[in-house]
Amino acid sequence: MKILIINGPNLNMLGKRDKKHYGTLTLKTINKKLKLISKGRAKLTFYQSNCEGKIVTYIQKHLNYDAMIINAGAYTHTSIAIHDALEMFKGKIVEVHLSDLNTREDFRKTDYISSLASKCIMGLHENSYYEALSYLLKE
Ligand code: DQA
Repeated sequence: MKILIINGPNLNMLGKRDKKHYGTLTLKTINKKLKLISKGRAKLTFYQSNCEGKIVTYIQKHLNYDAMIINAGAYTHTSIAIHDALEMFKGKIVEVHLSDLNTREDFRKTDYISSLASKCIMGLHENSYYEALSYLLKE
């Protein structure tokens, strides 16, 4: 199984961002742990960008992957372009967030990705990613 792990803007700053919402680990550490969890059962491909168009282009180039774990960061709440690219994706989509969007500012309640995701896991800090991967490995 080939799985994309896509992270949007400011997620390259994990470890330096607000720890109450986002935990203490860096994205590099989270990605390393994801590889350990997969134990070679899936081929994981990691991508992070702060640019909306680059994320759109990346998704367009990888439409045939089996699955995707995506944390689009703030683009979750704004990006019809990422929504439209995800509509073309053939595999299963799992949306993740480190923080719990339901308990934060109202603008974070708008979510352009959730309607396309088989599952949305949020509020568990780095464990949101680990649970998303475990879910896909069980499918
Ligand atoms: C986030 C939540 C978003 O609202 C925020 O803009 C982020 C991170 C999360 O993982 O909790 O950058 O997606």
